[in-house]
Amino acid sequence: MARALFDPERGYYSRHIRAVGRGGDFATSATLSPSLGGAVAAWLKAESQIQPQVRHIIEVGAGDGSLMASVRKALGWWTRRQFTFHIVETSPVLREQQQKRLGSKTHWHNDLESALAHAQGHAFIYHNELLDAFPATLVQWNDAEQRWLEVWVPEALHPHHLDAAFFSVLRHDTFKDGQRCELHPSIRDWLRRWTPHWKSGAMLSIDYGDDFPQLYHRRPHGTLRAYLLHQRLTGTDIYANPGRQDITADINFTDYAAWLAELGLTAASRHTLAEFLRPHAAPAQLLDPDGAGSAFKCLVHRRLACAS
Ligand SMILES: C[S@@+](CC[C@H](N)C(=O)[O-])C[C@H]1O[C@@H](n2cnc3c(N)ncnc32)[C@H](O)[C@@H]1O
Repeated sequence: MARALFDPERGYYSRHIRAVGRGGDFATSATLSPSLGGAVAAWLKAESQIQPQVRHIIEVGAGDGSLMASVRKALGWWTRRQFTFHIVETSPVLREQQQKRLGSKTHWHNDLESALAHAQGHAFIYHNELLDAFPATLVQWNDAEQRWLEVWVPEALHPHHLDAAFFSVLRHDTFKDGQRCELHPSIRDWLRRWTPHWKSGAMLSIDYGDDFPQLYHRRPHGTLRAYLLHQRLTGTDIYANPGRQDITADINFTDYAAWLAELGLTAASRHTLAEFLRPHAAPAQLLDPDGAGSAFKCLVHRRLACAS
């Protein structure tokens, strides 16, 4: 999955993605709902009341730049000029689209460590549908052996080498034979790389997923899937066209919250996307609270500066 999405020469995000939204393979809540930028801007204003020393805003994985554009617009001229804006983007194709849309008013970085260095460690960070693009490890419950096995491409089962202490799925043994689940050691590794460089601020994480074990309720095949021209592909079709189609999996928020707590971040709030958008969207723009509106979660974590 890492190579299919991020190989510098052949990866989907590195080379072949054409667009996010109607002209691409998948749409995101940022490209579908104009109200998301308003809600993120309101969140930034509220956070800057709590931590007024923070003067940098970082979006991670900004797609075609439409969310950053709508956040900047919704902040308004007065608030906008008080902040420096950054984007962390690994895809050269999407970075070019962002630069066309946003011009010179934003600083681009390859990773959060360098964005945080520019901000002296004090930043508000947000990301929408970033985590679902991180490579997942697929495991399958084997009832006869009473253990989880890792699914290798194309569909062979092997022992895994992951530490059950960090993955709620691996501590669970009451699934039906053949249940598949995705693990994201890639997200935990990513968090462990950049959070030591973060001194103060808040982070808004928006993505689809749920707590464990609800996430896998009535999903015996797990959540791993691919998208090509807005068609959802499952089973072995996920492995077709490597580098030419998006591959994604839902986020296990039980694990994500535990990893952030382990790194010393404070959980501040958690809403569904429908709840997060409600105060900022016109009725026609509200998401179905039983559909996409509840499938997406908005989590806020804070890094509060130590009083010295
Ligand atoms: C599914 S798209 C979402 C785009 C945008 N946030 C939106 O909602 O329309 C994932 C985005 O994250 C970027 N990305 C993936 N892994 C990344 C990483 N480790 N660091 C920064 N950006 C990353 C991709 O290039 C892409 O811009």
